[in-house]
Formats: sequence, C-alpha cells, structure tokens
Amino acid sequence: ECPPEHASLGSLKEFISKLPTREGWSGPIVLYKDYWFRPQLLENILLAQKNYNPRSEDIILATQPKSGTTWLKALSFTIINRSHYGFSDHPLLTRHPQHVVPFIEIPLKGKHISYVESLPSPRLLATHMPLSFIPAVSNQQSYRVVYICRDPKDVFVSRWYFENKIFDDVKLDMGNTFDMFCQGISPYGPFWSHFLEYWKASIETPERVMFLKYEDLKSDPVQVVKKLAHFFSVPFTREEEAGGVLEQVVKLCDFETLASLKVNQNGETRHDNKIQIDNSVFFRKGTVGDWVNLMSEEMGARLDQIVQDKLQGSGLTF
Ligand code: A3P
Repeated sequence: ECPPEHASLGSLKEFISKLPTREGWSGPIVLYKDYWFRPQLLENILLAQKNYNPRSEDIILATQPKSGTTWLKALSFTIINRSHYGFSDHPLLTRHPQHVVPFIEIPLKGKHISYVESLPSPRLLATHMPLSFIPAVSNQQSYRVVYICRDPKDVFVSRWYFENKIFDDVKLDMGNTFDMFCQGISPYGPFWSHFLEYWKASIETPERVMFLKYEDLKSDPVQVVKKLAHFFSVPFTREEEAGGVLEQVVKLCDFETLASLKVNQNGETRHDNKIQIDNSVFFRKGTVGDWVNLMSEEMGARLDQIVQDKLQGSGLTF
C-alpha cells in the first residue's frame, strides 16, 4: 500500500495512478490509506512526508478544507506575533491569511515543497492531512496541533460552492456529490475519520492537540482566542485583557474585516502547483447554518444521522 522508498516523481505518479479512483467531484479522487485525495494533492502529501522534518517547537493548524482554515490562520498568526505588529499596520491588512501561514503539503506560489524547512523556529504551519499522515518527531517532545472542525452540513455546502467556483468548467451535481460526501468519498474524507483522529488525540494528549469547533469560535471568539493564546504559551497579560487586545485580535480577523480588505477581494491568486484560486474565494458568507439555503431538510437530517452514527461513543457531537 505504500509508495516505494526513495521513489522518483515519475514512480510516485505511477503509484498514485494505480490507486482506486472515483469521479464525481471536480476531477477524480483516489483512495490511499483509507482516505480520499485529489491525485495532485496526494502527490504533494507523499512528497511532504519525505521533506517535512517536524520540530518540537512547531505549531500546526490542521483542518478539513472549508472548516475555518483561513480564519484559524489569521487568528493564530495575530496572536503569536502580536508583540511584533501593531493593529494599524498589521501584515493581515495587506496579505491574505492563507499566505502568512504556509501549508506543509501545499507549496506557496513559486516555492518548493521543502520551503518550510528554511523557516526559523518556532514555525506556524498548516495542514489538511489526517493526523496519522503527519510525520512524528523522533524525540519525546511533540509539536502542538490545533484542529478546527465544523458542522459537516456547512462544510459540504461551503465545499460545493468552492469547487464550482474555482474550476470554470465544473458544474457539480448536487445529489451525486452529496451522496458521495455521506459515504465518506470526498477530498480528505471520510470527514468523520479525519475528525475522530484529532478528537481522540485531543482527549489523550490535550497539551499536544487542541480541538476547536467553528461554531464555538463564532459564538464566543474572545474566549477561544484566550484559550488559543494559552495553548501557544503566549497568554494575554492582565494589561492586554484590560486594554481590549483580545477584542482587537477578534475584530482584525473577523469575516467582515478580512472580506472587506482589498487584498482579500481581488488580490493576487494562489497557486498550489496547478490550481489557481482567487483570494476572494476563501471568503463567501462565513456564517453558521447556511446549509439550509442549499440542502433540503431531509438531506440535513440524513447527514445528521450519519454524523451521529459515526461519532457515537466518541464524546464528539454537533
Ligand atoms: P462559507 O463557504 O460557509 O462562507 P477554509 O478557510 O477552511 O477554506 O473555509 C472557508 C469557509 O470559512 C468559508 O465558509 C468562508 O466564508 C469562511 N471564512 C473565511 N474567513 C472567515 C472568517 N474570518 N470568519 C468566519 N468565517 C470565515
């Protein structure tokens, strides 16, 4: 099941081309170690698994796509770097949140996949990989991970719009993609396996893995920002709390602020190898419960039931 050791790019591609494949999303997805991936992204992941040398000081922001990656990147970057930047000339006013925190497995435009190795510690990185795919640190001290998940109904809807938007020639079939999503056959799916890996690790080693929900961040962002700062070992001081710094962090990173910035409306595009994505595509509505505008009540109930069954006994609920 594993690609050959020291595989060349050509043999990696060949390995991937022989994996079980399904059509239905924009382009094929392939099954590798019980997860579905776009072939190009799986290639990146396999390369990253060789190139990425984890360091115990690393902080990794992990998500299923469309669960709040952009938001978590903005918040974490702002919290960690708050002693360096003022709010009036903050990097996020002129740089897209996706660009300030690089993915381990998705190279930034013009950069090689090994770019993250050139960054000084402590590194703030991101990934969509399942937890079991991230290389472990060889010594006892592990890196820290923050995972954010979101109600799968809203994830599905967000993904559906995203895929229809980034590929001009794509018009996804709603019923078919929904069926596939429910069966776990979606990019980085099954979504429940992805959730559960991180969820279990957050219970076993809470000092190592912090588990968040998009909905909690929406309803009480100040509280979550406080928890994040604590987890990052840069808690807010009493003076900062009294001076309203937490609220300033929340405001800078909220949907309305970020979506209204020029850089996020029509700034440069991001290329992850071949795919070109407009910056604005990462900001659509940013609300909880938008699924009702695309899905029927029956579809919502069906997905809820699947989620309940799959998460049963884990303690994780939506
Ligand atoms: P919607 O499509 O429901 O609007 P990701 O960043 O993981 O790709 O997720 C994208 C989703 O997060 C989109 O959801 C997007 O609008 C929303 N989003 C982006 N920035 C946000 C922010 N600052 N606050 C809340 N939601 C945000």
